[in-house]
Amino acid sequence: MTKDYGAVREAIRGILKKPDYDDGSIGPVLVRLAWHASGTYDKKTNTGGSNGATMRYEIEAKDGANAGLEHARAFLEPIKKQFPWISYADLWTLAGVVAVEAMGGPEIPWKSGRQDDTNDSYVPPNGRLPDGAQGQDHLRHIFYRMGFNDQEIVALSGAHNLGRCHADRSGFDGPWVPNPTRFSNTYFKLLLHHEWTKGKNKVGVEQYNDSDNELMMLPADISLIKDDKFRVYVEKYAADRDLFFRDFSAAFAKLIELGVQRDASGLAVRNKEIRAKL
Ligand code: HEM
Repeated sequence: MTKDYGAVREAIRGILKKPDYDDGSIGPVLVRLAWHASGTYDKKTNTGGSNGATMRYEIEAKDGANAGLEHARAFLEPIKKQFPWISYADLWTLAGVVAVEAMGGPEIPWKSGRQDDTNDSYVPPNGRLPDGAQGQDHLRHIFYRMGFNDQEIVALSGAHNLGRCHADRSGFDGPWVPNPTRFSNTYFKLLLHHEWTKGKNKVGVEQYNDSDNELMMLPADISLIKDDKFRVYVEKYAADRDLFFRDFSAAFAKLIELGVQRDASGLAVRNKEIRAKL
């Protein structure tokens, strides 16, 4: 059977527009699914990551950080039905890549070959994803664990140019930018040039809002301008969209490959020792 990934990409592009959902596109939540499926990686133990599609299992699906991603997974079900040969692990990461590109972002290298686990023994522990209420020390702790550096942390955070927070999912509320379905470097420009005031949102959670109360930033986002080393990259990306696109593409490609080890035929293999370390 020939595996036509071009046809899968086309089908994903075809479901992105959804007028009655959020800002009219499911693209942002698909990007978040690809990221959360991958961002559980721990380089010391070589556990977690996108291979296996472990978020299909209840323990990981119920991690508080993944609230709302059941919608993203459900949106992709018809594509899985149409192309049953693609693994969920490949489909989720490919959907993130296609969504970024379709929303005007950079092309992102993507490789197939991830395989789905058939039981929950490789599910990583909960709590490996970042907490929006925290700042720079926490971000470094989380992203260094995956093997990222400061520049990559800031580049990846630029994904908050897309989508919004939902009070019933994370407790935070609102979009970061005025046009949250168009990938650009606006997030960095707004971080630097808007005035952000800390306050409680409608469900009592602390976040930063602009003067019109229309846009928001998480405490984690604001830490990118409070921390001198992070701020250097925020300034670079605000001034140079092409540089941001190049760096985002490289960092996102690295993110979706974390922990994916392929054999000579390109199929991702499970290292038996991994299970023992979980
Ligand atoms: C730096 C640490 C990060 C923190 C603390 C964080 C936190 C959050 C939170 C709290 C939300 C709102 C979820 C909701 O209520 O629906 C969110 C949404 C989102 N995040 Fe992040 N995130 C981080 C990094 C990233 C990265 C690395 C990416 C991708 C490369 C990303 C992509 C997104 C996207 C696209 C959304 C919007 C989802 C939607 O519209 O449904 N985030 N993030």
